[in-house]
Amino acid sequence: MPARESGPAGLAAVGSVAVRTFAAHQGHQMSGVTQPGHMSMDGHHVNAMAGDGSGGVHNHFADYDELPDGHFYDPDAEYEPDPEYAATLAPDAARQRRERIGPTGRPLPYFPIPGPLTSHGPATIVAMCNQKGGVGKTTSTINLGAALAEYGRRVLLVDFDPQGALSVGLGVNPMELDLTVYNLLMERGMSADEVLLKTAVPNMDLLPSNIDLSAAEVQLVSEVARESTLQRALKPLMADYDYIVIDCQPSLGLLTVNALTAAHKVIVPLECEFFALRGVALLTETIEKVQERLNPELELDGILATMYDSRTVHSREVLARVVEAFDDHVYHTVIGRTVRFPETTVAGEPITTYASNSVGAAAYRQLAREVLARCHAE
Ligand SMILES: Nc1ncnc2c1ncn2[C@@H]1O[C@H](COP(=O)(O)OP(=O)(O)OP(=O)(O)O)[C@@H](O)[C@H]1O
Ligand SMILES: [Mg+2]
Repeated sequence: MPARESGPAGLAAVGSVAVRTFAAHQGHQMSGVTQPGHMSMDGHHVNAMAGDGSGGVHNHFADYDELPDGHFYDPDAEYEPDPEYAATLAPDAARQRRERIGPTGRPLPYFPIPGPLTSHGPATIVAMCNQKGGVGKTTSTINLGAALAEYGRRVLLVDFDPQGALSVGLGVNPMELDLTVYNLLMERGMSADEVLLKTAVPNMDLLPSNIDLSAAEVQLVSEVARESTLQRALKPLMADYDYIVIDCQPSLGLLTVNALTAAHKVIVPLECEFFALRGVALLTETIEKVQERLNPELELDGILATMYDSRTVHSREVLARVVEAFDDHVYHTVIGRTVRFPETTVAGEPITTYASNSVGAAAYRQLAREVLARCHAE
């Protein structure tokens, strides 16, 4: 568990929802006592009890009659991550929340809760891609997918790694599967319905894979239009889903090129550690080549910083370097390091259901909102 800010500073972290949380908390503590209050700019009650050093409940709003400029009371409870999450993101979480600066050092925009859809499709296809191993591709595929599904999007996850980690992470034993994405790729006339599995998450389906897929890499070499095999296989499914997320294997081989050819967007997870940027030049070069030669629609949607630990200077420095290198391509949402993620793999379910109120679940929900906001901004 990340260090949690304790005491008054943690309680009074300034932010739109923190305002409400604090007021509610204080109301509870002061039951029966009428406290003087102030009205915020939009007329909501804001508690402004002076911090008097008496050891009682302290309020950072003591310095303000109203919320500082640029701060609004927002009844959308999901807008602000909980204080524990904020503490994982920033060296001085209270200050950063007050100034609404995100962990990437940039002002944190508002990512609205997406409204319901009245119809579905055609799908936006996203490739989760980095040839470096263990950076959080599979974890991000499962949890971004589950968060999008929670927001009412129809989601298909494609396990495109012969290791089958995505399938395992969703509680499927890959060795017991008769039909996988391999059959869909290699056998003409195979329908996706025969391969598709429903997951325990409503609105989210899976095209599973297992070690059979490693043969496809070799067999595809002699195929006509070998790079667009996955694209052809996914075409009939486009109308049924809003998002199709492909979990790539850690290589830039033919399977990954297939994923990039099928995709509209790429998400690149980067682990916040020293060698994070090593190999990224090769990855961006590959993306550009696919753009030029095979799939002009392909775009880099964003770089996702994962396994971030705000308590280490190292993590913060790496994140600063990543933002320096990729600027606006870096998602404002950053995924903190927590043991909860390995636990979810064992449990075979996304963190959004395994630990729905956890910091990690909140982070992936925010990522889903950011991804949707980027999509709508286009
Ligand atoms: N934010 C996180 N905090 C802590 N552990 C994490 C986090 N994200 C992922 N992990 C763990 O790190 C390991 C690697 O993650 P994951 O499998 O998602 O990476 P990957 O990029 O898909 O790996 P591969 O390249 O082998 O496919 C897993 O054990 C996973 O549970
Ligand atoms: Mg993986």
